Amino acid sequence: MGKFLWFFLPFALLAQSEGETIYMTKGCYGCHGVKGEGIGNYPKLAGKPEAFLIDRLHKLKEGIGHTSKRDIMIPFAKALSEKEIRSVSGYLGRIDPSRDRKEDVADEYLGGFGS
Ligand code: HEC
Repeated sequence: MGKFLWFFLPFALLAQSEGETIYMTKGCYGCHGVKGEGIGNYPKLAGKPEAFLIDRLHKLKEGIGHTSKRDIMIPFAKALSEKEIRSVSGYLGRIDPSRDRKEDVADEYLGGFGS
């Protein structure tokens, strides 16, 4: 069992960094924030269930469903392969949504509360 873990651990870490690399190199962070926290009208993705994100990306890729903002997202969904959809959704699903970059910046700027 122990041996098993050490064998698979590097693959798990690799998968995580692969998702993050896709997120950063395909421009996703430009609209959804560096930690998937969402910017303005662009939805937060951090911590949403992996299966939900995969399903949304499939629908956006195929142009299923109607929302006013959908057209902006479609080209980015189309640019992802099936494997990339899975890696990036896994990465986003694992982000702790309470730890987003905006809060970190505000804490540093204010010098923390009462400390
Ligand atoms: C130009 C801005 C922009 C970029 C870049 C962008 N998105 Fe989006 N994304 C949007 C908008 C706008 C929506 C909302 C679409 C809607 O309401 O139907 C969205 C929706 C989504 C959703 C569905 C979220 C939900 O809660 O329904 C996912 C998942 C997603 N984007 C992932 C990504 C990934 C992964 C990338 C990079 C490959 C990316 N986006 C790049 C603008 C962007």
